[in-house]
Amino acid sequence: MTPTGTTTVIDDIGLLVTNDPEIGEGPLGVVRDASVVIADDTVESVGPRGQAADRRIDAGGACVLPGFVDSHTHLVFAGDRAEEFTSRMAGKPYDGGGIRVTTEATRAASDAQLRALTRSRLAEAHRAGTTTIEIKSGYGLSVDHEVRCLRIAAEHTSETTFLGAHLVPAELDGRADEYVDLVCGEMLDAAAPHARWIDAFCETGAFSAEQSRRVLEAGKAAGLGLRLHANQLGPGPGVLLAVEMGCASVDHCTHLDDDDIAALAGSDTVATFLPATDFSTRQPYPDARRALDAGVKIAIATNCNPGSSYTTSISFCVALAVRDMGLTIEEAIAAVTSGGASALRRADIGRLTPGAAGHAVVLDAPTYHDLAYRPGVPLIARTIGPLAD
Ligand code: NIG
Repeated sequence: MTPTGTTTVIDDIGLLVTNDPEIGEGPLGVVRDASVVIADDTVESVGPRGQAADRRIDAGGACVLPGFVDSHTHLVFAGDRAEEFTSRMAGKPYDGGGIRVTTEATRAASDAQLRALTRSRLAEAHRAGTTTIEIKSGYGLSVDHEVRCLRIAAEHTSETTFLGAHLVPAELDGRADEYVDLVCGEMLDAAAPHARWIDAFCETGAFSAEQSRRVLEAGKAAGLGLRLHANQLGPGPGVLLAVEMGCASVDHCTHLDDDDIAALAGSDTVATFLPATDFSTRQPYPDARRALDAGVKIAIATNCNPGSSYTTSISFCVALAVRDMGLTIEEAIAAVTSGGASALRRADIGRLTPGAAGHAVVLDAPTYHDLAYRPGVPLIARTIGPLAD
């Protein structure tokens, strides 16, 4: 982070993505041979190479992008589920039931252990180019444990999401409505001061549309913004519910029908795709091409969690989106920068333009195409700016 009062220039940028078509070429607003001056973590100017500042970061002719915005993670958890992954690769389908396994491990971890695990995943995400991250609770599933997870998340990001309605905990098995009462009452009262958003897992086997609606309505009444997990494991009512409720984002959207796409296209709800999840659970990839062509606003995020998507790599998600979801590389880059910002209803991140946050990624590559063209290669040379905000 730049100390207050000093300016930093990222100089000798071969190819700069600003995400502002008024500043540069094409939808990504690309500028060649550029430099960016940052003052107090805010972009002061975008200009040709050689702008002056107190401190200089040499991009060495490489490509520079806005820092990645990872708008969907479940980063606060303990334990792993490598065995579940292995049996999935041998043919066992994913059904979300492992959430209880992670809940048990998370409840058993001390505060210090949970903090250390979260910190190390955050450091990994930052090294991978993420400068803003959303973190959900959802592996506590009791009043005290949900609040503990949110408190730990809030030590690192203002984008915290209360996901008490992730799954009914084992001790209330078969009593989903009773658990929803708890989520909408005592748990929400305790969680709301530590959360910006509320979310629910609207899916067969998790929560019904009616139960999810109750959770969203209660969250809205408590002043939280709305997001929803929907249409992950099969078609369902979640996308239409998210649009009707004015959610900022509906996440997964692996199964979208014509009505879902029409509703999303006529709304401000962002469809957030999580391709690393479809990869790790052997689900089909969503038809993102069709959604984009219909005018749906999209984002792409990692969904980092120990069950369905244990990765912090936005680059990996970009490669999947281009290879398997029919997006152009430009559309995929937009989805992990300005798209992620829209999914969080943020105008200050996801672009490198005067007044925006000075969060940037310097690639070890001349162009952003390499993020899809050279999958699995660590191409993030440097991440500039906070992950914590
Ligand atoms: O987004 N879908 C619900 N929650 C996570 C998975 C959590 C888990 O399996 O632990 C997801 O995929």
